[in-house]
Amino acid sequence: KSSQRHMFFTKSCSTGSDMAEEAKKLAGYAAVNDHIKNNYVVGVGSGSTIVYAVDRLAERVQQEKLKIVCVPTSFQARQLILQHGLPLSDLDRHPELDVAIDGADEVDSSLTLIKGGGGCLTQEKIVAECARHFIVIADYRKDSKCLGQQWKKGIPVEVIPMAYVPITRDITRRFGGEVVLRMGVNKAGPVVTDNGNFILDWKFENVHNWKEVNTAIKMIPGVVETGLFIGMAERVYFGMQDGTVQIRD
Ligand code: 5RP
Repeated sequence: KSSQRHMFFTKSCSTGSDMAEEAKKLAGYAAVNDHIKNNYVVGVGSGSTIVYAVDRLAERVQQEKLKIVCVPTSFQARQLILQHGLPLSDLDRHPELDVAIDGADEVDSSLTLIKGGGGCLTQEKIVAECARHFIVIADYRKDSKCLGQQWKKGIPVEVIPMAYVPITRDITRRFGGEVVLRMGVNKAGPVVTDNGNFILDWKFENVHNWKEVNTAIKMIPGVVETGLFIGMAERVYFGMQDGTVQIRD
């Protein structure tokens, strides 16, 4: 089921990246307008699209005097919550969330997601799993029929550092493709996650049964989590190039 909502841009978009930013904003605003209520415990995702959702969240809290608490999925999300003056909590105090809102790197036609472009996949999956509703926000570039059509960097896998070589070998031997250790700025060293781990990006070549592959990869010793989110997203808001929002659920 999908629907479309018209919300036209307030300014003209001159470049592709301006257009994508406007699309992120449309998606973030629409999701917060539809899914946030008074007294909600809200999971806050990571990335660039969530910034717009938090802007709108802060606006609504101020205008409507909403009482909410926010559970972050990363250091970045924690900073966003604090910078916007929103109440910060955690899963110790709020293990049950009303809603979690987060971005995605790719969304297929059955709402299977690739996440972890920003390396926060483990906390994102934990928080999403604790939420009654998991809502995804994305711009039009993330929409695909089949995983791998849009996001070319592969499926992120968070791993314990000492195990990254055996895990790399195991994934390529069993499932093919190429596994790359994610490197930081100037390739000075590997990216280290908020949990002190490394990220492998698995550039798969074939379409797989993602549920089976996800389970198999998670069974490899040293794998912490994968960026495959299967059967978790309830609804996705896509901000579109023409100023509309498309909803898929
Ligand atoms: C971070 C994520 C992000 O949600 C994902 O990479 C999308 O980011 P953006 O909104 O910047 O496109 O999974 O780990």
